[in-house]
Amino acid sequence: MEKLIYTIYFFFYVRYNPFNPTQPARPDFFVGREPEITEFEKVLVQTAHGSPMNLAITGNRGMGKTSLLVKLEQLAKEKKALVLRMSNYEDNINDIPEFCDYVSSNLKREILSRKPLGEQFDQLQKWASTFKPTIEWKEISLSVERTQVIQEVFRQRLLKLWKELGNDFDCAVILIDEAESLEKVKGILTFIREVFQRIESEAKYSIVLAGKFNFTERMSESFSPLNRFFPCHRLTALDESSMRKYILQRLATVNVGIDESAIKHVIKNSEGHPYVLVAICYLLFDSLNENENHITQDVVVRAKEKIAHRLGQDFFSPMFHPLSPKAKEIIVSIAKSAKTTEFSFKNAVDWLKLPRNYVSPYIKELLRKGVLDKPERGRYKIFHTLFLEYLAGKENSE
Ligand SMILES: Nc1ncnc2c1ncn2[C@@H]1O[C@H](COP(=O)(O)OP(=O)(O)OP(=O)(O)O)[C@@H](O)[C@H]1O
Ligand SMILES: [Mg+2]
Repeated sequence: MEKLIYTIYFFFYVRYNPFNPTQPARPDFFVGREPEITEFEKVLVQTAHGSPMNLAITGNRGMGKTSLLVKLEQLAKEKKALVLRMSNYEDNINDIPEFCDYVSSNLKREILSRKPLGEQFDQLQKWASTFKPTIEWKEISLSVERTQVIQEVFRQRLLKLWKELGNDFDCAVILIDEAESLEKVKGILTFIREVFQRIESEAKYSIVLAGKFNFTERMSESFSPLNRFFPCHRLTALDESSMRKYILQRLATVNVGIDESAIKHVIKNSEGHPYVLVAICYLLFDSLNENENHITQDVVVRAKEKIAHRLGQDFFSPMFHPLSPKAKEIIVSIAKSAKTTEFSFKNAVDWLKLPRNYVSPYIKELLRKGVLDKPERGRYKIFHTLFLEYLAGKENSE
């Protein structure tokens, strides 16, 4: 009986929260990112017309890379592209042969997924047995030769797959999320470029990489072939009108209203950071009492502490934790001295009272781990004001 009452209570009184910071945005919730979408549409048209182009999307944690890829997947499908969206989240790709096997077998799976189930399985098995994957490749010992052989085999496979696809699709798009993890596979990006560039005139493949790259930093400093092959877009803050649209649309689905002052508060405090925006909205909604259907300034005040606490726990702490002990100390000291998120290298050195060449490697670490941005030469920015407040509130010994 008690259980039943609890179940009834749960379904009637715990209401559905239209905000979810733990999942990428569904394409129908997606807002903004018009420049990236326009760019991708050009890439699709070029590729479908036999002049393939690629893209790289970079951005700090929670800036919306995965959400954008999901959106691009939907757009590409609407435009008659075969789409393979993959992520190296589980680190299942540790070397180049594994990458080749992964891409080719998943492309084949996509092709077969349109056939009846029994046929699909038979054909995938038959097909997999026609190439002897990884093991054979790993036996080739001479490194230069080995790379060339692997390139050649992969190219042939891709061409064959394209021949199977070409009648049904205008192009094939391979979307790779968490692509920064590929950076640890030595030479893989150059390998991808070599392979796809050479089949460009015979097959219509386009590749979109998304991740928290370091290679783009390096690439943007030198004019590299990789840079040209993967023109890079950095995701920046969402603009005000996108945020407003997002808040109002999501709330409308549950018939909950919001005061203009509360909207302004959310827009200002999120600073256009998608994760922070969605997390704040989630917690504001969560702070409504059972009988309330409107987010007022009161609700904002009520939720303030919870927001600071939960953002710290769910978002800022996982960013702070992986820093080296010295980098932690340095960023906490900087946060305690800084009035705003931006500071110069000289400010940092003065506040820390440490030599320049001592501080410099830690600043680089903080940049690499996405805690700092570098808006211009010699200037740095703590990635979010609420993160600055989180750091400044820390005890020195923490
Ligand atoms: N364009 C958008 N429209 C609406 N919501 C968005 C958008 N971009 C991101 N979000 C929301 O922001 C949050 C973080 O987005 P997402 O997971 O895509 O970021 P990410 O850059 O892939 O993060 P990570 O670096 O952790 O992989 C999600 O809750 C998502 O719903
Ligand atoms: Mg992601």
